[in-house]
Parts: sequence; C-alpha cells; structure tokens
Amino acid sequence: MKVVITGGAGMLGRRLALRILAKPELTGPDGAPQDVSKLVLFDAFDPVEAPSEDPRVEVVTGDICNRETLDSLIDGETDAVFHFAAIVSGGAEVNFDLGYAVNLDGGRNVLEAARRTGRCPKVVFASSLAVYGGERSVDDSTALTPQTSYGTQKAIGELLVNDYTRKGFVDGRTLRLPTIVIRPGKPNAAASGFASSILREPLQGDEVGNPVTPESRMLILSPKRAAQAFIEIHNADGASLGINRAVMMNGISPKVSEMLDVLSRYAGDAVADRVYSKPDAMVQEIVDGWAWYSDGARARALGMEPDASLEEIIETFVNEELDGTFVS
Ligand SMILES: NC(=O)c1ccc[n+]([C@@H]2O[C@H](COP(=O)([O-])OP(=O)(O)OC[C@H]3O[C@@H](n4cnc5c(N)ncnc54)[C@H](O)[C@@H]3O)[C@@H](O)[C@H]2O)c1
Repeated sequence: MKVVITGGAGMLGRRLALRILAKPELTGPDGAPQDVSKLVLFDAFDPVEAPSEDPRVEVVTGDICNRETLDSLIDGETDAVFHFAAIVSGGAEVNFDLGYAVNLDGGRNVLEAARRTGRCPKVVFASSLAVYGGERSVDDSTALTPQTSYGTQKAIGELLVNDYTRKGFVDGRTLRLPTIVIRPGKPNAAASGFASSILREPLQGDEVGNPVTPESRMLILSPKRAAQAFIEIHNADGASLGINRAVMMNGISPKVSEMLDVLSRYAGDAVADRVYSKPDAMVQEIVDGWAWYSDGARARALGMEPDASLEEIIETFVNEELDGTFVS
C-alpha cells in the first residue's frame, strides 16, 4: 500500500513513519495488515532524521498551501493519507493568516487531492482537544466551542472530513489528540509545549521556565500511545464510525505541580529544581481554555488506551530518547 504523511518531518509524522515501516500494521480492504510499499513524507522542511535509507521512503519538500503539489503527492496509487501538517496552537494564534492558510486551506487541499484520485482513499486527520473550550470535562458529545484560532481551524477540518466522507470522496477519520508529552527534540510553537519542556529539559540537565501556575492541569498522551491510536483509527471499520468520523482520544490529566512531583520522585529533587517559574499570560490563557478531563467512550471501544501513568511516560522517554539515562 502507498501511504502519504503530511507533516512527515514533524514529531508525530516521524514517529508514525518509523512504526509503519517497522512492521505491517495498517490494514487493507480485506482487514489484513498490508506491507507499506511506498511511504511519502511530505513537509515544508526536510526531516532532520528521516528514515530515508529505507527504499520505500520518498521525502517531498513543499508547501501544503500549493494545490498542485498536493495533487501530484496524493495520486491514484494512494491508499491512505495521514494529514499532520499544521501550524500549531501558539503559531496560529500569533499569525492568524498563516494559521488559516495552512490549517484550513492546506487541509482542504489534502481532501481535494484525495477526492480527485477517485478511489476514496483513507484520510486520517490529526485534530486536537483545542476544538473544545470552556468545559473542564469533555466526552464524545461535548459541543465544539474552540477558544483559539487553531482550535477553530481543527474543528472546521473535522467537519470537512465528515462531509467529504459523507459524499463518498474519502474514507475519513479524525483523531482528537490531547497534548503530546514528552515531545522529543526542541520546543515548538505549541502553547502546550511547556508541558514537555518542564520534563524534557531538566532530564537533560537544562533549566527551564514554567509559564503556568502549579494548579494548571493538562490532558496528556505519550507519542507512543498517539502513534498506536493513529494505527487503530486507520484500521477501524468506517461504517461503524458512522457519520461523525471524529474520535476523541483519552489522556491522563496531572496538574503541573503533580508533574513536577513525579519528576522529582523519578529523577530526584535536583532535576525537578531545574524548573523555575516564568509566567506567560498568553500561554496561561490558552491553557485555561482547554479541558482537564476526557471520557471518550468511542476511543475506548476502539481499543485506544491512554498511558497508565506519568511515571510510565517519563520512563518511556528516558529509554527511547535518552538511551536510558538522564542528567541527575
Ligand atoms: N503534538 C501535540 O501535542 C498535538 C496535540 C494535538 C494535535 N496535534 C496535531 O498533530 C499533528 C502533528 O503534530 P506534531 O506535534 O507532530 O507537530 P509538528 O509541528 O512536529 O509537525 C507539524 C509539521 O507540519 C509541517 N508544516 C507546517 N506548515 C507546513 C506547510 N505549509 N507545508 C507543509 N508542511 C508544513 C511542519 O514543518 C512540521 O514538520 C498536527 O496537526 C498537530 O496540530 C498535535
């Protein structure tokens, strides 16, 4: 099968690429796992560490806002598209026009290119819990009331996926993700990025500012569980998903103070003490608008499990990204 990942140089795109290259997990029309014969990683930038040695991988650099580029990328051979390219929350808030161009118009380009193939490929869209707003606890039926441009763009994207699916143009699916923690590498422009930074940087010996109050709570999910959930939603039976193709992924929801307590227990006080207070009103306002608790029955029914604990998330990060050691 041919698979295209937009945002293929990004954090989740790269992780999913490595996973689906490692073993056949994506199922075909007969429900059996199929080999990936071609994997196109599309992004505005070349991947820092692409799995490009693999002969099945093709790296394409371009702008998702360019419709012709998308038409040549998503062709009559394409079975599945994972649409991850995005201007993340902080970026879309700072640059209104860029956010709408990439997150809305770019997403429409993906759906149109998939539609033009005439073969109803699967399109798996990465949405966000930022589609909610003002509710402390959310479930599958909570109204979408986004309080940021990013959340609004994701909510519109979800509706487009539903409508293109209803028309039979694509076989769409949307996964609404909590904040992904611990994000490897450097911080990005996501308002939620601090939730990774306050764990990742101290474990690597660096001091880091925490922009929100200790009482702030984040719904979080590890990159490993997110990649697993993308495979599950790709493989889900479309008919059983029904008209609404969006599935809310559950997460765990520690307070920031609890995150630092767990870090201290796992790595020691000296590591946790590398986090200092650095209030940021914009980040606090965005984070205050997000949900604290999720109760996604659809995700549970599809076998998508959140992480067991924050300890597990930290341990997985240390083992997978830091070769099993941290700076004590
Ligand atoms: N990481 C999270 O906490 C989180 C939470 C909820 C939803 N999501 C969504 O999941 C998806 C993947 O997230 P991520 O953390 O891997 O993000 P990321 O920022 O690491 O990757 C996004 C990629 O999109 C690319 N991109 C941006 N503009 C582009 C353009 N004009 N043309 C082509 N590519 C472009 C970027 O270069 C980047 O590599 C995104 O859609 C994001 O909104 C992420």
